[in-house]
Amino acid sequence: MGEPAKLCVSNQKGGVGKTTVAINVAGALAARGRDVLFVDLDPQGNATENLGMMDAYDEEPPTLFDCLTDPEQRGAITDIVREHEEMDVVPSNIDMTAAEPELTLARRSGEQLDLLLDEIEDDYDYVLVDCPPNLGNLMDNALYATQNVLIPALAESTSKRAFELLFDHVEAIELDYDIEVHERGVVVNRIDVRKNQAQEMVEWINAAFDDVPVWEVRERAAIQKALAEGVSVIEYDPECDMNEVFLDIAANLDDQFGLGDAETEEVTA
Ligand SMILES: Nc1ncnc2c1ncn2[C@@H]1O[C@H](COP(=O)(O)OP(=O)(O)O)[C@@H](O)[C@H]1O
Ligand SMILES: [Mg+2]
Repeated sequence: MGEPAKLCVSNQKGGVGKTTVAINVAGALAARGRDVLFVDLDPQGNATENLGMMDAYDEEPPTLFDCLTDPEQRGAITDIVREHEEMDVVPSNIDMTAAEPELTLARRSGEQLDLLLDEIEDDYDYVLVDCPPNLGNLMDNALYATQNVLIPALAESTSKRAFELLFDHVEAIELDYDIEVHERGVVVNRIDVRKNQAQEMVEWINAAFDDVPVWEVRERAAIQKALAEGVSVIEYDPECDMNEVFLDIAANLDDQFGLGDAETEEVTA
């Protein structure tokens, strides 16, 4: 296999659904037969917990922290990757809380995740990175390593400011590293259709992102229960009406990254 498609799930605002969207998009890609590597880059380790790997969070070194901050320990990443029923996972660890300051001192501070992924990425169709809720070194590493971003946001007016901050930051990274970061889509999450403001925000986001796909995920108990069970909602509840949204995102990503069904492509070419 060649280079995998790489994508980070980012929004510096906490609680908007980065981890939820990342896990469920990964699950949807897996359901389409894609080999996915999921990287939990958030020192809080929510994804690690939501994928049922809390023991990895408390594991002794070497952990993701060592592989990310010490070039001599980069190779240890192969022992850190865990198997989940839907995907492979690079779990976060309690030590990752020290990664921000440590990376500030590092040479090529924004490139360490990219160099780390070089060690393991060849086995996968996709690498999905779940970002922490701030615009720090870890986020920069995720943006540089993937150069593709999927943005979850709540259907609230506070999201407008969050988009502004995120795009300012993405622009700064593009200039700093002379790269282009592609926005692959916005996922409006936890929509409560009983709230008027939600529909207004969905319309605002659709107008603001006219050349980027916008998906709508509603508030669902099954989505929360799936996370508590350590799997995607597609795996947990095949009947959940939001599964088709995550599967649609996965199909669209396959298209955007040119990983669509080869036969179909030939027919339409
Ligand atoms: N569509 C949804 N329906 C129900 N609960 C959701 C949904 N999306 C997220 N949640 C819940 O909201 C909380 C925050 O989501 P999370 O994905 O952890 O956000 P972030 O990673 O951006 O901080 C979690 O408890 C999660 O279970
Ligand atoms: Mg999170």
